[in-house]
Amino acid sequence: MADIICVIGNKGGTGKTTLSHMLCQGFGLVGQRSVCVLTDTYREPLNPASRRYLTADARTREALAKVVDKVRALKAWLGVIDGGGNRTEMDRKLYSLADLVLLPFRDSHEDIRTVIRDLEMFPRAYAVPTQWPTNAWQREAAEKTVTEFLAPYRDRIFEPVFNLSASKLLLQTDIPNAMPTALANACRGMAHQVLDLLQITVDDEVVDRGRASLPPAVHATAQANTRTAVVA
Ligand SMILES: Nc1ncnc2c1ncn2[C@@H]1O[C@H](COP(=O)(O)OP(=O)(O)O)[C@@H](O)[C@H]1O
Ligand SMILES: [Mg+2]
Repeated sequence: MADIICVIGNKGGTGKTTLSHMLCQGFGLVGQRSVCVLTDTYREPLNPASRRYLTADARTREALAKVVDKVRALKAWLGVIDGGGNRTEMDRKLYSLADLVLLPFRDSHEDIRTVIRDLEMFPRAYAVPTQWPTNAWQREAAEKTVTEFLAPYRDRIFEPVFNLSASKLLLQTDIPNAMPTALANACRGMAHQVLDLLQITVDDEVVDRGRASLPPAVHATAQANTRTAVVA
């Protein structure tokens, strides 16, 4: 039975859609099959060609129920549901059906206030710092803010997704055949964090030579793994 990962949070613009697609692209690069599920009625479906994952349109309640059932039935696949924003009821529903819940947030005080509320509301969820500054001074300031405000939740915070302008390539309807290496590496890093948490091992990592094709056959086995989850 496939695991379902939901990317939610009560704020727009935090990076939910980007994170969902980076995660799926990363899964494809490490040999894990996945489907990225669209629920946001303000977005259009993206073409799966050249991606290392499938895309599904679940913008209506009925479609979502169908897609979730279909994905669940796929052995050794993962479903990543992009939750959309400002929809507490939808977030609650997705939380209740998810095996893993991710809450992206940026380093602003407003995002941090919102993510604290969401971490309280969704006690199994993990916070994912996104669009994280790469400049040393800004990064230090962002880390200080997290230490100050998110200390009680430190076991539920992922390693950050850095600000990477190439990430917007994944949100294009059609993506180029070749992806920048920095983006591929960021996608892989994110995928590994999630696979570790879900205790899924994959055994045929794809060496990315800049050629994007659909994922090769994968043999993901959900089994206890001795690696520790990579959470800060
Ligand atoms: N890691 C990142 N690096 C750079 N820009 C990002 C990153 N994540 C998101 N963005 C940008 O931030 C904006 C909002 O991201 P999006 O994924 O659409 O957020 P949401 O789905 O939460 O509304 C978009 O313009 C997107 O390109
Ligand atoms: Mg979105």
